Amino acid sequence: MGKLLVLLAILSLGQIITAERIVNCYWGTWANYRSGNGKFDVSNIDANLCTHLSYSFFGINDSGNIQSLDTWLDYDLGFISQAIGLKRQNSNLKVLAVVGGWNEGSTKYSSMAGDWSKRQNFINSALTLLRNNGFDGLDLDWEYPNQRGGNWNDRSNFVTLLRELKEAFAPYGYELGIAVGAGESLASTSYEIANIAQQVNFINVMTYDFAMASDGKTGFNAPQWAIENAINYWLSQGAPANKLVLGVGSYGRSFQLSDPSQNWPGAPCRGVGSAGAYTGDGGYLGYNEICQNNWHTVFDNDNAAPYAYSGDQWVSFDNVLSVQWKMDFALRKNLAGAMVWSLETDDYRGLCGQAYPLLRTINEKLRW
Ligand SMILES: *[C@@H]1O[C@H](CO)[C@@H](O)[C@H](O)[C@H]1NC(C)=O
Repeated sequence: MGKLLVLLAILSLGQIITAERIVNCYWGTWANYRSGNGKFDVSNIDANLCTHLSYSFFGINDSGNIQSLDTWLDYDLGFISQAIGLKRQNSNLKVLAVVGGWNEGSTKYSSMAGDWSKRQNFINSALTLLRNNGFDGLDLDWEYPNQRGGNWNDRSNFVTLLRELKEAFAPYGYELGIAVGAGESLASTSYEIANIAQQVNFINVMTYDFAMASDGKTGFNAPQWAIENAINYWLSQGAPANKLVLGVGSYGRSFQLSDPSQNWPGAPCRGVGSAGAYTGDGGYLGYNEICQNNWHTVFDNDNAAPYAYSGDQWVSFDNVLSVQWKMDFALRKNLAGAMVWSLETDDYRGLCGQAYPLLRTINEKLRW
């Protein structure tokens, strides 16, 4: 009996050591339309820095069928087939089709998940999409069940949807992942955590967006305390550590200060920061924009995160040091790995030093 236990212990230890950690790279394919050094296409991807490439996004129609959101880019320009072709550079690479995202909203997904025939449309169109293009799996990014126009039944309907997807995928070996809101108030509203965790291969926890200009004050996009609280909450609710994938944002949230002389975290702001040259949306800056700015940068040890400012502009973001801290936390908690949102805002061209500094740091900590 004792020998058997020792043998089992050695076997499971071996599994822990050999299980490769996930580095899931989200790719916002629309960055193809950015100008100059912001333009990003498949030639800018280093397939060896990712175990998973998450091709974002697909949408659904009112019948629940998955649809291309840009058939020109996906098919005419051939982005999907080029993405699948990256498996020639990294034969272990899994390429996933990501359905949903913020702009898709919640209501279509709520009515699909709650209707048997729409669910079958969704599942059948997922199988067709994966099979016809050679994807390795699906990542569902419904933002969010029971919010933004959804309703209470979404919580259990989401479990049903995921269970049916899992069963439909099993014969083909397709992977099933989800991306979820991280913090307790958001997650407890949207998810039956233990039940959804049983249906999926992994859960991408979006541990960022913890501060916005709408708060009326500056704050950290992804501070240490919020990440620890969020992951500990998911674990306490029955999500197994080996399915949790820690989210890293390769971007910052930016603010316009009310008073440029009050430039600390928590200082009043009058609105979003100015749009960046590549990303072009107020309140949001890619790391590839931030690193070229040469603003005064401070690393805040209490939050394990940097911020930077210049005049009335202020941004909180992640850099190599804060990503190192996040990966140490993921390792301490024995999580499945990390994901980055997203490839096209890391310094993928190496404009400020070595290419892909943030994604490289993730790999250094988790894989190399
Ligand atoms: C959704 O897409 C499917 C497949 O293309 C199509 O058959 C169906 O009519 C569409 N439904 C709506 C409401 O547009």
